[in-house]
Amino acid sequence: MNARQQQRDNSGTAPLDMDGLSRILFGHAAFQYLNAACELGLPELLAEREELSREQIRDTLHLADRAVDILLLGCTSLGIVVRETDTGRYRLAQVVRDLMDEGDWQRFKDTVAFEQYIVYEGQLDFTDSLRENRNVGLRRVRGSGRDLYHRLSENPHMEQVFYRYMRSWSELANKHLVEELDLSGAKHLLDCGGGDAVNAIALAKANPGLEVTVFEIPASRTIAEKKIAQAGVSDQVSVITGDMFRDPLPTGCDVVMFAHQLVIWTLEENTELMRRAYEVLPEGGKLVVFNSMSNDQGDGPVVAALDSVYFASLPAEGGMIYSWEQHEKCIEAAGFHSSKRIPFPGWTPHGVIVATK
Ligand SMILES: C[S@@+](CC[C@H](N)C(=O)[O-])C[C@H]1O[C@@H](n2cnc3c(N)ncnc32)[C@H](O)[C@@H]1O
Repeated sequence: MNARQQQRDNSGTAPLDMDGLSRILFGHAAFQYLNAACELGLPELLAEREELSREQIRDTLHLADRAVDILLLGCTSLGIVVRETDTGRYRLAQVVRDLMDEGDWQRFKDTVAFEQYIVYEGQLDFTDSLRENRNVGLRRVRGSGRDLYHRLSENPHMEQVFYRYMRSWSELANKHLVEELDLSGAKHLLDCGGGDAVNAIALAKANPGLEVTVFEIPASRTIAEKKIAQAGVSDQVSVITGDMFRDPLPTGCDVVMFAHQLVIWTLEENTELMRRAYEVLPEGGKLVVFNSMSNDQGDGPVVAALDSVYFASLPAEGGMIYSWEQHEKCIEAAGFHSSKRIPFPGWTPHGVIVATK
């Protein structure tokens, strides 16, 4: 188990001390050091040059003395960068190196950008969002669409950051989805709210006989079609547009997947979406729920808890990183049986639930 996996489960965490409490108090500032390091290119610089002096970092990043002192004070004290005591030179934390070696660093950075440019401001309304039990933070996103997704096309920079992140966040876990999801008997999968088709493409590539339909809002059609063409799977994957709450779901599929979808809506809305899936599936058809999950005790993992602030404050009226059990209850209420949970390894709390009609 590596350092990142160890942090995933909250059970057995030491009691909070003053250092831990201070880190929570200044959590927003800790994130700003991470974001600044990413935007300035400090991790890549240290990865390339192994070890550098303060002056070399200052000059290469074109920073003033005071600015480099602040950046290094933060990045070393938080552990993103390590200062060698004997030489005073700086090197990259092993955990960041591991992400780079595993090919996940850009995905991690896309997540940092999402937190900075989409999540950060809306979270200011978290308390009011809890009080009013709705996404008060959406008021900070320009536009008139009924939820964040229907406002993205009115905010091109946000749209770009969002879909880059969504692709990366999916890719951090969808290799496990591809491995664990048995689609050997399946002919046609409907990917409801499939985004830029990142998961549809991965599943199509892994299952050459499978036809995949991405169901998306009209504003996201071009983004998905471009990625499908770039991946060279236009013969297998197509896009249809509509509103999965209001328009009929396409018939003829034997698998319906909701990927990073049932974290957005209320449990009642989730059950309604699953009922709609149930109606179009044949007997024996499969329902697939792929997203982050919290544990059934409601006390972790910490990434599930922290990610829930976004879902409470911003995208739509009701959502959070629900527990496995909460999803299973909706699945049962929608009429499915034999649901099976498969938690994925890794530092994100991803997993999949597969159920049968
Ligand atoms: C969190 S993203 C997940 C994207 C993709 N499934 C993934 O895992 O990368 C949610 C997606 O649902 C789409 N969506 C939101 N409301 C929808 C609706 N009413 N009908 C169809 N798609 C919707 C959004 O446009 C967005 O691309």
